[in-house]
Amino acid sequence: MTARTRGAAGRRGAMRRVTAVRDLREARAAFRRRGESVAFVPTMGAIHEGHLSLVRLARRSADRVVASIFVNPLQFGPHEDFRRYPRPIRRDRARFAEAGVDLLWEPRVEDVYPPGDRTRVRVEGLTEVLEGASRPGHFDGVTTVVARLLHAVQPDVLWLGQKDAQQAIVIERMCADLLVPIAVRRGPTVREGDGLALSSRNAYLGERERQHAVALSQGLSSARVLLERGERSAAKLVAAIRREWAGYPLVREDYVAVVDATTLEPVGRVRGRVLVAVAARVGPARLIDNLEWSPR
Ligand code: PAJ
Repeated sequence: MTARTRGAAGRRGAMRRVTAVRDLREARAAFRRRGESVAFVPTMGAIHEGHLSLVRLARRSADRVVASIFVNPLQFGPHEDFRRYPRPIRRDRARFAEAGVDLLWEPRVEDVYPPGDRTRVRVEGLTEVLEGASRPGHFDGVTTVVARLLHAVQPDVLWLGQKDAQQAIVIERMCADLLVPIAVRRGPTVREGDGLALSSRNAYLGERERQHAVALSQGLSSARVLLERGERSAAKLVAAIRREWAGYPLVREDYVAVVDATTLEPVGRVRGRVLVAVAARVGPARLIDNLEWSPR
């Protein structure tokens, strides 16, 4: 049976939930016995349309969809928002069930980091810049947890969001380097009507901060207009974004960068595929957004 035929007919059984790795593996093995392919959507919960868009893409890419909710302590810095990260677990489960997740894994910390754990996964070179420069150790936490999640779930396809472009690039590199037999795919960034990229951290924004947060996507739109008109100077693109942000005093820049979309190395002029990546603090929230663009 394919995902397509099952999607149209009555929706499969209720979503199953598991916590222990052993239960996850059993459920996974049952899919394999039936010859069903598996797509995986890892998350930290506080589920929004961005996550659900990945579930929908996942459904079209495989027979079964496995999702995980795990607020991974290892990827948060000591002064970051691990403790106050939103955890609306009941609503998350309902949203995932409604979107067609077959199996939801909600591990505890000890399921992912067994007693005596000593192993870390690090991707070099791609992880010290942009988000990695602002959040030391963050990507080691991401790659370490994603490697574990992948080993436990053993999906055929992994779905990641373009919203976290650097994360996707780092994980794609990790899977290639470790000869992981999984297709890594990216889904486009889902946005609010005014352009703000959906993020669990948008919940931290007050009313005025929410209005100013639109600066991130507006700056990227200005950069896109310039690129379409033929502007190739990275410095001019950065300046245009900063000019746009000047109208939003609650936005405090962390970085505005134009980098190669594969190596993440800064570019002076746009020749191939580039990533225009931005990060800023808006009140208590730290927000990121990006635009991937290549000359036709
Ligand atoms: P989280 O922030 O919950 O995001 C889970 C997935 O949803 C990521 O692949 C992310 O890029 C994607 N996503 C988030 N906002 C999106 C949006 N507006 N549009 C499209 N996709 C979006 O990213 C993580 O969790 C963690 O680092 C994780 C990979 C789960 C490892 O702990």
